[in-house]
Amino acid sequence: MSAPGPLDVWHKFADTSVLLDGFHALKHALRFGAEVPVAVTTDRAAALALADELAPDVRNTLDALLTQVPAPAYWSLVPRPHPTEIAALAVRPSRAANLDRLARTPRTAPVVVLDNPRNLGNAGAVIRLAAGFGATGVVTTGTLDPWHPTVVRGGAGLHFATAVERLTVAELPSGPVFALDPEGEDIRGTKITDDAILAFGSERSGLSADLRARADHLVALPMRPQVSSYNLATSVAMTLYHWSATGGAPHVP
Ligand SMILES: C[S@@+](CC[C@H](N)C(=O)[O-])C[C@H]1O[C@@H](n2cnc3c(N)ncnc32)[C@H](O)[C@@H]1O
Repeated sequence: MSAPGPLDVWHKFADTSVLLDGFHALKHALRFGAEVPVAVTTDRAAALALADELAPDVRNTLDALLTQVPAPAYWSLVPRPHPTEIAALAVRPSRAANLDRLARTPRTAPVVVLDNPRNLGNAGAVIRLAAGFGATGVVTTGTLDPWHPTVVRGGAGLHFATAVERLTVAELPSGPVFALDPEGEDIRGTKITDDAILAFGSERSGLSADLRARADHLVALPMRPQVSSYNLATSVAMTLYHWSATGGAPHVP
Protein backbone atom coordinates (compact mmCIF):
# COMPACT_ATOMS: atom_id res chain seq x y z
CA MET A 1 0.00 0.00 0.00
CA SER A 2 1.37 3.48 -0.88
CA ALA A 3 2.16 6.06 1.84
CA PRO A 4 -0.66 8.51 2.59
CA GLY A 5 -0.44 11.76 0.58
CA PRO A 6 -0.59 15.25 2.16
CA LEU A 7 -4.32 15.52 1.54
CA ASP A 8 -4.96 12.19 3.32
CA VAL A 9 -2.90 13.43 6.28
CA TRP A 10 -4.76 16.74 6.16
CA HIS A 11 -8.18 15.07 6.30
CA LYS A 12 -7.03 12.78 9.12
CA PHE A 13 -6.00 15.74 11.34
CA ALA A 14 -8.38 18.47 10.14
CA ASP A 15 -11.10 18.01 12.77
CA THR A 16 -8.78 17.92 15.77
CA SER A 17 -6.08 20.40 14.74
CA VAL A 18 -5.53 24.12 14.40
CA LEU A 19 -5.36 25.70 10.94
CA LEU A 20 -2.23 27.77 10.38
CA ASP A 21 -3.14 30.16 7.61
CA GLY A 22 -0.20 31.59 5.68
CA PHE A 23 3.58 31.75 5.94
CA HIS A 24 3.86 33.86 9.10
CA ALA A 25 1.49 31.72 11.16
CA LEU A 26 3.39 28.57 10.17
CA LYS A 27 6.76 30.22 10.83
CA HIS A 28 5.71 31.35 14.33
CA ALA A 29 4.16 28.02 15.23
CA LEU A 30 7.34 26.16 14.23
CA ARG A 31 9.55 28.58 16.14
CA PHE A 32 7.59 27.97 19.31
CA GLY A 33 7.60 24.19 19.10
CA ALA A 34 4.21 23.37 17.55
CA GLU A 35 3.76 19.84 16.26
CA VAL A 36 2.86 20.27 12.58
CA PRO A 37 1.85 17.01 10.88
CA VAL A 38 1.14 18.53 7.46
CA ALA A 39 1.90 21.73 5.52
CA VAL A 40 0.93 22.47 1.92
CA THR A 41 1.57 25.22 -0.61
CA THR A 42 0.79 25.87 -4.24
CA ASP A 43 4.40 26.97 -4.87
CA ARG A 44 7.19 25.32 -2.85
CA ALA A 45 9.97 27.36 -4.49
CA ALA A 46 8.23 30.64 -3.62
CA ALA A 47 7.59 29.48 -0.04
CA LEU A 48 11.23 28.51 0.47
CA ALA A 49 12.40 31.78 -1.06
CA LEU A 50 10.21 33.56 1.51
CA ALA A 51 11.83 31.48 4.24
CA ASP A 52 15.33 32.36 2.95
CA GLU A 53 14.41 36.01 3.10
CA LEU A 54 12.35 36.22 6.29
CA ALA A 55 12.92 33.13 8.42
CA PRO A 56 16.17 31.27 7.65
CA ASP A 57 15.94 29.67 11.14
CA VAL A 58 12.99 27.52 10.03
CA ARG A 59 13.98 27.11 6.37
CA ASN A 60 15.19 23.52 6.70
CA THR A 61 12.13 22.51 8.72
CA LEU A 62 9.89 24.01 6.06
CA ASP A 63 11.87 22.30 3.32
CA ALA A 64 11.20 18.93 4.94
CA LEU A 65 7.56 19.69 5.75
CA LEU A 66 6.04 21.55 2.80
CA THR A 67 4.35 19.63 0.01
CA GLN A 68 3.27 21.31 -3.19
CA VAL A 69 -0.36 20.69 -4.12
CA PRO A 70 -2.41 21.95 -7.09
CA ALA A 71 -4.15 25.28 -6.44
CA PRO A 72 -7.70 23.81 -6.44
CA ALA A 73 -6.64 21.29 -3.77
CA TYR A 74 -5.23 24.13 -1.60
CA TRP A 75 -8.41 26.18 -2.08
CA SER A 76 -10.51 23.24 -0.96
CA LEU A 77 -8.65 23.13 2.39
CA VAL A 78 -8.96 26.76 3.54
CA PRO A 79 -11.99 29.01 4.07
CA ARG A 80 -10.33 31.79 2.05
CA PRO A 81 -6.98 31.68 0.28
CA HIS A 82 -4.07 33.45 1.99
CA PRO A 83 -1.81 35.62 -0.21
CA THR A 84 1.16 33.29 0.47
CA GLU A 85 -0.96 30.21 -0.45
CA ILE A 86 0.54 28.23 2.43
CA ALA A 87 -1.53 26.32 4.97
CA ALA A 88 -0.70 23.83 7.69
CA LEU A 89 -2.31 21.98 10.56
CA ALA A 90 -0.87 22.05 14.08
CA VAL A 91 -1.73 19.86 17.03
CA ARG A 92 -3.44 21.88 19.77
CA PRO A 93 -1.57 21.61 23.10
CA SER A 94 -3.52 19.60 25.68
CA ARG A 95 -5.49 21.36 28.40
CA ALA A 96 -3.41 19.48 30.96
CA ALA A 97 -0.17 20.86 29.49
CA ASN A 98 -1.56 24.41 29.50
CA LEU A 99 -2.83 24.11 33.08
CA ASP A 100 0.59 22.88 34.09
CA ARG A 101 2.27 25.91 32.49
CA LEU A 102 -0.21 28.28 34.09
CA ALA A 103 0.20 26.78 37.56
CA ARG A 104 4.00 26.62 37.55
CA THR A 105 5.67 28.72 40.27
CA PRO A 106 7.61 30.88 40.81
CA ARG A 107 5.99 32.66 37.86
CA THR A 108 8.41 34.90 35.96
CA ALA A 109 5.85 36.74 33.80
CA PRO A 110 2.17 37.65 34.26
CA VAL A 111 -0.88 35.73 33.10
CA VAL A 112 -3.35 37.82 31.09
CA VAL A 113 -7.03 37.15 31.81
CA LEU A 114 -9.76 38.32 29.44
CA ASP A 115 -12.97 38.22 31.45
CA ASN A 116 -15.75 37.17 29.07
CA PRO A 117 -14.32 38.77 25.90
CA ARG A 118 -16.70 39.04 22.93
CA ASN A 119 -14.51 40.02 20.01
CA LEU A 120 -12.46 37.27 18.35
CA GLY A 121 -10.07 39.79 16.76
CA ASN A 122 -9.29 41.34 20.14
CA ALA A 123 -8.54 37.92 21.61
CA GLY A 124 -6.12 37.15 18.74
CA ALA A 125 -4.38 40.50 19.12
CA VAL A 126 -3.99 39.90 22.87
CA ILE A 127 -2.41 36.47 22.29
CA ARG A 128 0.06 38.08 19.90
CA LEU A 129 0.88 40.72 22.54
CA ALA A 130 1.26 38.12 25.27
CA ALA A 131 3.64 36.14 23.05
CA GLY A 132 5.70 39.23 22.30
CA PHE A 133 6.04 40.18 25.96
CA GLY A 134 6.73 36.61 27.06
CA ALA A 135 3.60 36.43 29.24
CA THR A 136 2.98 33.08 30.92
CA GLY A 137 -0.42 32.67 29.32
CA VAL A 138 -3.74 34.08 28.16
CA VAL A 139 -6.83 32.82 29.93
CA THR A 140 -10.36 33.63 28.84
CA THR A 141 -13.48 33.26 30.96
CA GLY A 142 -16.94 32.92 29.42
CA THR A 143 -18.06 31.35 26.18
CA LEU A 144 -15.53 32.60 23.61
CA ASP A 145 -13.17 29.83 22.48
CA PRO A 146 -9.62 31.28 22.49
CA TRP A 147 -8.69 28.58 19.94
CA HIS A 148 -11.46 29.60 17.51
CA PRO A 149 -10.01 29.77 13.94
CA THR A 150 -10.55 33.54 13.80
CA VAL A 151 -8.63 34.00 17.07
CA VAL A 152 -5.84 31.76 15.79
CA ARG A 153 -5.68 33.85 12.59
CA GLY A 154 -5.48 37.06 14.67
CA GLY A 155 -2.76 35.49 16.83
CA ALA A 156 -0.51 34.89 13.79
CA GLY A 157 0.50 31.40 14.94
CA LEU A 158 1.59 32.66 18.37
CA HIS A 159 -0.84 30.54 20.40
CA PHE A 160 2.11 28.15 20.65
CA ALA A 161 4.32 30.76 22.34
CA THR A 162 2.16 31.10 25.45
CA ALA A 163 -0.42 28.98 27.33
CA VAL A 164 -3.91 29.72 25.94
CA GLU A 165 -6.81 28.22 27.84
CA ARG A 166 -10.42 28.88 28.87
CA LEU A 167 -11.13 28.73 32.63
CA THR A 168 -13.72 29.94 35.11
CA VAL A 169 -12.84 32.75 37.51
CA ALA A 170 -12.71 30.15 40.31
CA GLU A 171 -10.11 28.17 38.34
CA LEU A 172 -7.68 31.08 37.74
CA PRO A 173 -4.08 30.37 38.73
CA SER A 174 -2.85 31.69 42.07
CA GLY A 175 -1.19 35.09 42.28
CA PRO A 176 -2.12 38.70 42.95
CA VAL A 177 -4.95 39.86 40.67
CA PHE A 178 -4.49 43.31 39.14
CA ALA A 179 -7.85 44.13 37.56
CA LEU A 180 -7.87 46.91 34.97
CA ASP A 181 -10.69 49.38 35.30
CA PRO A 182 -10.96 53.11 34.53
CA GLU A 183 -12.15 53.67 38.12
CA GLY A 184 -8.99 52.16 39.66
CA GLU A 185 -5.76 53.67 41.00
CA ASP A 186 -3.41 55.18 38.41
CA ILE A 187 -1.23 52.34 37.07
CA ARG A 188 1.75 54.68 36.90
CA GLY A 189 2.06 54.47 40.70
CA THR A 190 1.72 50.67 40.72
CA LYS A 191 4.43 48.04 40.38
CA ILE A 192 3.09 45.04 38.47
CA THR A 193 4.79 41.95 39.87
CA ASP A 194 6.04 39.09 37.68
CA ASP A 195 3.53 36.70 39.27
CA ALA A 196 0.60 39.03 38.51
CA ILE A 197 -2.72 37.94 37.10
CA LEU A 198 -3.68 40.88 34.83
CA ALA A 199 -7.44 40.90 34.35
CA PHE A 200 -9.35 42.85 31.70
CA GLY A 201 -13.12 43.22 31.36
CA SER A 202 -15.46 42.45 28.52
CA GLU A 203 -15.77 44.94 25.65
CA ARG A 204 -19.45 45.32 26.44
CA SER A 205 -19.73 45.34 30.21
CA GLY A 206 -16.26 45.56 31.75
CA LEU A 207 -15.17 43.35 34.66
CA SER A 208 -17.63 40.77 36.00
CA ALA A 209 -18.70 40.73 39.66
CA ASP A 210 -16.81 37.42 40.13
CA LEU A 211 -13.58 38.89 38.81
CA ARG A 212 -13.95 42.07 40.88
CA ALA A 213 -14.45 39.91 43.97
CA ARG A 214 -11.16 38.11 43.22
CA ALA A 215 -9.18 41.34 42.53
CA ASP A 216 -6.41 42.44 44.88
CA HIS A 217 -5.79 45.73 43.07
CA LEU A 218 -7.99 47.82 40.77
CA VAL A 219 -5.77 49.84 38.42
CA ALA A 220 -6.50 52.44 35.74
CA LEU A 221 -4.69 53.45 32.57
CA PRO A 222 -4.23 57.21 32.20
CA MET A 223 -7.12 58.62 30.22
CA ARG A 224 -8.48 62.11 29.67
CA PRO A 225 -11.87 62.99 31.22
CA GLN A 226 -14.82 62.42 28.83
CA VAL A 227 -13.19 59.38 27.19
CA SER A 228 -15.03 56.32 28.55
CA SER A 229 -12.53 53.54 27.91
CA TYR A 230 -9.86 52.13 25.63
CA ASN A 231 -10.16 49.15 23.35
CA LEU A 232 -9.50 45.85 25.14
CA ALA A 233 -6.39 44.82 23.20
CA THR A 234 -4.80 48.27 23.46
CA SER A 235 -5.43 48.18 27.23
CA VAL A 236 -3.55 44.88 27.43
CA ALA A 237 -0.72 46.38 25.36
CA MET A 238 -0.32 49.37 27.67
CA THR A 239 -0.44 47.21 30.79
CA LEU A 240 2.13 44.71 29.55
CA TYR A 241 4.32 47.59 28.47
CA HIS A 242 4.03 49.09 31.96
CA TRP A 243 5.06 45.74 33.46
CA SER A 244 7.99 45.56 31.03
CA ALA A 245 9.14 49.07 31.88
CA THR A 246 9.11 48.45 35.63
CA GLY A 247 10.13 44.82 35.96
CA GLY A 248 11.26 41.57 34.39
CA ALA A 249 10.32 41.98 30.77
CA PRO A 250 11.66 39.71 28.04
CA HIS A 251 15.16 40.24 26.82
CA VAL A 252 15.32 42.34 23.63
CA PRO A 253 18.22 41.08 21.48
C1 LIG B 1 -13.71 48.41 26.13
S1 LIG B 1 -13.34 48.31 27.81
C2 LIG B 1 -14.91 48.01 28.57
C3 LIG B 1 -15.87 49.11 28.48
C4 LIG B 1 -17.14 48.77 29.15
N1 LIG B 1 -18.23 49.42 28.47
C5 LIG B 1 -17.18 49.08 30.64
O1 LIG B 1 -18.25 49.29 31.11
O2 LIG B 1 -16.17 49.05 31.33
C6 LIG B 1 -12.61 46.72 28.01
C7 LIG B 1 -11.65 46.60 29.17
O3 LIG B 1 -10.45 47.32 28.88
C8 LIG B 1 -9.88 47.78 30.10
N2 LIG B 1 -9.81 49.25 30.03
C9 LIG B 1 -10.23 50.07 29.05
N3 LIG B 1 -9.91 51.34 29.33
C10 LIG B 1 -9.28 51.32 30.53
C11 LIG B 1 -8.70 52.32 31.38
N4 LIG B 1 -8.69 53.61 31.05
N5 LIG B 1 -8.14 51.91 32.53
C12 LIG B 1 -8.11 50.63 32.89
N6 LIG B 1 -8.64 49.65 32.13
C13 LIG B 1 -9.21 49.99 30.98
C14 LIG B 1 -10.78 47.33 31.22
O4 LIG B 1 -10.32 46.12 31.75
C15 LIG B 1 -12.11 47.16 30.50
O5 LIG B 1 -12.98 46.32 31.21
